[in-house]
Amino acid sequence: DKGTYPYYMLKEVDEQAVVARNLSAHYFDEEGNVQGIGCGITDSIKEADRLYIVAAGTSYHAGLVGKRYFEQWAGIPTEVHIASEFAYDQPMLSKKPFFIFLSQSGETADSREVLDNIKRQGFPALTIANVMNSTLTREADFALPVLAGPEIAVASTKAYTAQIIVQAILAYALGDVDLDLKAELAKVAVEISAITDDKDCFKKIADEDLKGQKSAFYIGRGLDAAVALEAALKLKEISYIQTEGFAAGELKHGTISLIEDGTPVFALLTQAKTAGLLRGEVAQVAARGANTIVISSKSLAKEGDAYVLPEVNELLMPLLAVIPAQLIAYYATLARGLDVDRPRNLAKSVTVQ
Ligand code: M6R
Repeated sequence: DKGTYPYYMLKEVDEQAVVARNLSAHYFDEEGNVQGIGCGITDSIKEADRLYIVAAGTSYHAGLVGKRYFEQWAGIPTEVHIASEFAYDQPMLSKKPFFIFLSQSGETADSREVLDNIKRQGFPALTIANVMNSTLTREADFALPVLAGPEIAVASTKAYTAQIIVQAILAYALGDVDLDLKAELAKVAVEISAITDDKDCFKKIADEDLKGQKSAFYIGRGLDAAVALEAALKLKEISYIQTEGFAAGELKHGTISLIEDGTPVFALLTQAKTAGLLRGEVAQVAARGANTIVISSKSLAKEGDAYVLPEVNELLMPLLAVIPAQLIAYYATLARGLDVDRPRNLAKSVTVQ
């Protein structure tokens, strides 16, 4: 039920703070220790020499973020693969691989194909899914719930942030990091609410910067490049504005020739190490006529930035940086008079290969 919301997507965007809190309540005890992840899972992962995350669409994008947690917090080399590619072009695997399937629906045919293949090869697998008791959760050795609640809008929003949080908690449980993740996620939940309260600001950006536009770009570096892919998918899949998301350093290798007078270029700027380089790239596209819209985090913000995100642990910034992109996509689509929840040619769950 949408309640008073005009579209499920808006409701689901707003639910993200509650989902973050529910995940904390489920996966942490009072003292902030991880619970609800059986030692069958952690022991099996600890035996592995490499993790392979396999997913499609938004879930694949969540995996690109999760990779950082498994590598930086748990110290396990991690690869992220598009299910439809892996299924028919399996890369060379390490000696002891462990597979993680990410899926909102648990029914994505491409991911199921990979799960079948790797089971035949005898490799262990964990599915992290929103719909439990789905094919991917039933057929994997292990399953963990994403607890986002029903996601109805075709454009995935809360399942993305929830998948990122579950990966962060799992990596945290596997590693020994000097961090109070429960406290950090409590901050994240508060700040997600603060951002979703700023809807007017994102509506204004959508109305002013995307009006009449046929194409747009999202750029970023590091984790922001991963979020740029998801931000671009959100905007293109529902508004039909052709949007490319990519690593900002690649601009000079070709894409910059697409920049014309007024082309909207969104830059996500939340990672300190590369903030200077990204500022340079924003200046380069601005010099070629782009309309640059910078979404930065508080400590990296400069005058003229379109939106300043509150600050949480830098590795958790994707959980905040994606929210403006979800809402900008929503309002751009609304302004075009399109059905936000049911974009053309798309199904919520892709059960064909
Ligand atoms: O149910 P899944 O997470 O496995 O679905 C994967 C993709 O089909 C899905 O994320 C799709 O890309 C969404 N429409 C994105 O908003």
